[in-house]
Amino acid sequence: MPDPVVTKELTKVYKEGKIEVTALKSTNLILEKGVVVGLFGPSGSGKTTLLSMLGCILRPTSGSLNIFGNEVCGLAEEDLPRIRREFISFIFQGFNLFPALTAYENVILGLKMKGIVGEDADKRACYMLSEVGLKERMHFLPRDVSGGQRQRIAVARALAADSPIILADEPTGNLDQSNGRKVMELLKHMAASQRRCIVVATHDNRIMDLIDRVLYMEDGSIRQEKRS
Ligand SMILES: Nc1ncnc2c1ncn2[C@@H]1O[C@H](COP(=O)(O)OP(=O)(O)OP(=O)(O)O)[C@@H](O)[C@H]1O
Ligand SMILES: [Mg+2]
Repeated sequence: MPDPVVTKELTKVYKEGKIEVTALKSTNLILEKGVVVGLFGPSGSGKTTLLSMLGCILRPTSGSLNIFGNEVCGLAEEDLPRIRREFISFIFQGFNLFPALTAYENVILGLKMKGIVGEDADKRACYMLSEVGLKERMHFLPRDVSGGQRQRIAVARALAADSPIILADEPTGNLDQSNGRKVMELLKHMAASQRRCIVVATHDNRIMDLIDRVLYMEDGSIRQEKRS
């Protein structure tokens, strides 16, 4: 079975008119199953850029990206949703919840996009929303809950689908210490017990002990790596 993620010389250059910003410089990376990877580094170092390319929501400028044996860079735009649907769940830095849908409906819609519907979807949505502590808030709209609770809806939506790769951009950014740890413990448990590949971009040093492999980014490159 191929590794969840293999990148070779993966590079992203953003072009704004005549100005070019190299947000990720030629990066080689192998990500395994069952491991929680933490992407650390200052603002602007390239964490979201790397995560977005791994999630197939941002196209690399050059290099290769392989997801469970599928070479992604050569694929046409219309083939990318299949890769995302089959392998990837993403927790966005800005949550990306649908404002007119309740917490429960947001999770159900996320599942529907993965082809999971009916009783199975209902069970998964209720279970995951309870796991993140939102059982009582399940039928509230995003605007009627706190920022941290919104973040936990986004976490529940991503985790309910059982994707083998979970990518999370600052998943504890809006959470207090206790809720932040709960979310990370849930992610760690999923990595260990279900052999998921989990990548978390974060500034949050309080969750360092729950991360198996730390990649420290600076100026578009991975500068340091530590395994616990
Ligand atoms: N759409 C874009 N167009 C042009 N430049 C961009 C774009 N998105 C990001 N950048 C630039 O790429 C670099 C990396 O940005 P990125 O968002 O990946 O950083 P980050 O490590 O996630 O930062 P933060 O911790 O603030 O979220 C920055 O210099 C940023 O200004
Ligand atoms: Mg970011």
